[in-house]
Amino acid sequence: MKREIEQEMSYLQVTAKEQLHEWVEQIKEFSSEGKTADYIPALKDMDSSQLGICLIGADGTVIQSGDYESVFTLQSISKVISFIAACLCCGIPYVLERVDVEPTGDAFNSIIRLEMHKPGKPFNPMINAGALTVSSLLSGETAKEKLSYLFDVIIMLTGKTPLINETVFESEWQTSHRNRALAYYLKETNYLQGEVEEVLEVYLKQCSIEVTTEDIALIGLILSLDGYHPVFHKQVIPKEVAKLTKALMLTCGMYNASGKFAAFVGMPAKSGVSGGIMSLVPPNTKKQSPFPDGCGIGIYSPAIDEYGNSVKGVTLLKKIAKEWDLSIF
Ligand code: DON
Repeated sequence: MKREIEQEMSYLQVTAKEQLHEWVEQIKEFSSEGKTADYIPALKDMDSSQLGICLIGADGTVIQSGDYESVFTLQSISKVISFIAACLCCGIPYVLERVDVEPTGDAFNSIIRLEMHKPGKPFNPMINAGALTVSSLLSGETAKEKLSYLFDVIIMLTGKTPLINETVFESEWQTSHRNRALAYYLKETNYLQGEVEEVLEVYLKQCSIEVTTEDIALIGLILSLDGYHPVFHKQVIPKEVAKLTKALMLTCGMYNASGKFAAFVGMPAKSGVSGGIMSLVPPNTKKQSPFPDGCGIGIYSPAIDEYGNSVKGVTLLKKIAKEWDLSIF
């Protein structure tokens, strides 16, 4: 997307760009922890040494470093977009009747609390049980119609028509036994609307949408600005939906590492097993911040930890948050 508001960088931003290159190089070289998501065969062979980042400021400044041009699939970052889309088509009260807003402390694909938490309502839209329910609420009857609605929302945010990585989709479609089990359980408890296989197709295809760090940084920026699109100059997400989404990212976006992430990074964020992280910094009053009017952040680095979060990505975010004092707390 052509960004008409691009402008000259401030002194702080020029310094920030240099620092960022240094940190990316250091982390790429010294951090070797984590491994690519092997439970999805098509993700297993991604180059785990990669690390890329894109920051877009509210003033239009773009700072990129490392492997920022790599294309990867949204995976769980799509849960943020489908939640926004469901709120747009059904309204917040309808969505929250079907999915709660509480963190679980369990793995993203955990099934255990569905039966323990009566009457089986998913805890939040950022875990698989909640995301499957949310995908079933999207406007349309068939998988095709629901995806077309989701695509329209993505176009409204990024200005780009999404592409599905069919290899990743097929690979997960064949191996998604746990998601199938979750969806059938949710069908039985009436939280999931429509047919299980249709909903599963929507969910796995939304996970397989290809993006770059710039695409997710832009979505992060729109959320940072409470739903206002700084390039299209209009409110594309209602403020109430944007605020709710950010609260969910902060409390549940990094799964059972969300508490640690809030404590040691302190920014709303959402990860995906392909190694992407979408994060944001709200406008703040800290004078030393290179982005005082807020920014969106997109990161990609495919080696993930046991929670499903990018190891190098989290390390880099921790460094940035500390050095530039970006924590919201
Ligand atoms: O449902 C799944 O297993 C994946 N397609 C998405 C999971 C995911 O990205 C969890 N992330 N950190």
